[in-house]
Amino acid sequence: MRRSKAVVACLAAALLAAAGAPALAADPAAAKSRAGQCFVCHGADGLAKVPDAPNLAGQNAAYLVKALKDYRSGKRENEVMSMMAKNLSDDDIAMVASYFSSIAVTVKAP
Ligand code: HEC
Repeated sequence: MRRSKAVVACLAAALLAAAGAPALAADPAAAKSRAGQCFVCHGADGLAKVPDAPNLAGQNAAYLVKALKDYRSGKRENEVMSMMAKNLSDDDIAMVASYFSSIAVTVKAP
């Protein structure tokens, strides 16, 4: 019982931290400029410009943050992304994640 309470507290803290990330992009222009280095592959509109890159438009900020930190730590490896992530600070990651997650997407099921 104790233990599960601690787990819930951790989860809540993680969620709060994740929810805090987009707030950093109070300056959308600054977030866009930091994401500029990603556009050649992921697009300024978040739609991939090269066949092996994924679309990032509208993706959850928390997912993007985790993916980038995993590339940076080596937990997730990819020739290109491991290189890209190496140069990103936590602040850069929060900014680029908030940029791509704030792109509005509409979907239509087939
Ligand atoms: C030269 C092309 C290139 C550039 C530049 C690039 N990426 Fe990527 N990105 C890729 C490719 C290719 C993958 C797929 C990697 C894999 O299979 O793990 C990827 C994967 C990702 C993923 C994982 C998405 C998922 O669905 O799990 C994220 C997040 C990401 N990139 C963010 C960024 C950000 C942020 C930048 C700029 C700082 C950036 N990328 C710059 C090519 C690029």
